[in-house]
Amino acid sequence: MTTPELGLPMAVPAQGLPAAVRIYEVGARDGLQNEKGTVPTEVKAEFIHRLADAGLTTIEATSFVHPKWVPQLADAEQLFPRVSELPVALPVLVPNERGLDRALALGARQVAVFASATESFAKANLNRTLDESLAMFEPVVNRAKTEGRHVRGYISMSFGDPWEGAVPIPQVVRVCRALLDMGCDELSLGDTIGVATAGHVRALLSALNEAGVPTHTLGVHFHDTYGQALANTLAALQHGITTVDASAGGLGGCPYAKSATGNLATEDLVWMLRGLGIDTGVDLDRLITTSVWMAEQLGRPSPSRTVRALSHKE
Ligand code: HMG
Ligand code: MG
Repeated sequence: MTTPELGLPMAVPAQGLPAAVRIYEVGARDGLQNEKGTVPTEVKAEFIHRLADAGLTTIEATSFVHPKWVPQLADAEQLFPRVSELPVALPVLVPNERGLDRALALGARQVAVFASATESFAKANLNRTLDESLAMFEPVVNRAKTEGRHVRGYISMSFGDPWEGAVPIPQVVRVCRALLDMGCDELSLGDTIGVATAGHVRALLSALNEAGVPTHTLGVHFHDTYGQALANTLAALQHGITTVDASAGGLGGCPYAKSATGNLATEDLVWMLRGLGIDTGVDLDRLITTSVWMAEQLGRPSPSRTVRALSHKE
């Protein structure tokens, strides 16, 4: 048990949880892709620099997607060189070979393809059927692996879909297996619209293990639409998950998914993990200063409870 500093939770470790968690920061990509206005490239670059200064070691930087589909990230070519020298992992999204070409031309070391567990979202997000989208990813993963890159595979709508409703677990397992068999190094289970609850998380993780998907290859990506993201994260940690996606200040959503709101806020996650005595390497004060600064750039307050509580301390 560690005595709390002012404004920090008392660290009381709980049994059966990992000693450390890798936070996979998605604010600059998942967060900013959903902004109505376009955030200037220099603001994005400063955001990523500040996130690295706050101790985040994996910061998803941008997407090499079609600029008409996600105009908010159309400056990927201008942004990436401004952050690429940072001593952190900077994964980028690539939907297809054209995206991979663009990312490799700038020296990206880590890429992510993004599949869907449902037909409706594959169509809305990638203009493809589910199987067509997997066929589109196959040469991307092959080439990225041949070139020594690390590849993440996202599976959106892993818990529910705004058009199809509940998503059967075997359907999610099939897409996870396909991505792993293609050669992805890690997977991220996306609760794109935030409908997961803790029992569902446990059931999906167990089903994946039974299908031969090892826990260490899995990360979780919760959106906080219904306030369940932290409860779901705790369930995942209890299952042995050590990679958790989060977005500074709770920025986020998805332009192609109705009712998707912000991701789990990184600050809320860090607060809970500190209370559990789990190491993240993140300096919470610096992170909050960054999110307050970013909220000023965007002209609205952060939805993160932790940011609000600690930025109004004095
Ligand atoms: P399409 O219209 O079917 O593209 O879009 P296409 O393959 O038919 O090509 C049409 C034209 O686009 C061609 O140009 C291509 O060269 C060009 P033309 O020959 O006509 O002049 N093109 C590109 N240009 C630049 N970069 C590229 C690229 N690809 C093709 N990469 C496509 C298909 C996949 C491109 C499109 O649907 C797309 O860009 N989708 C991206 C959607 C997106 O980024 N969504 C958000 C990320 S997913 C997410 O947020 C969920 C997540 O957070 C997890 C969760 O929460 O669940 C990850
Ligand atoms: Mg997302």
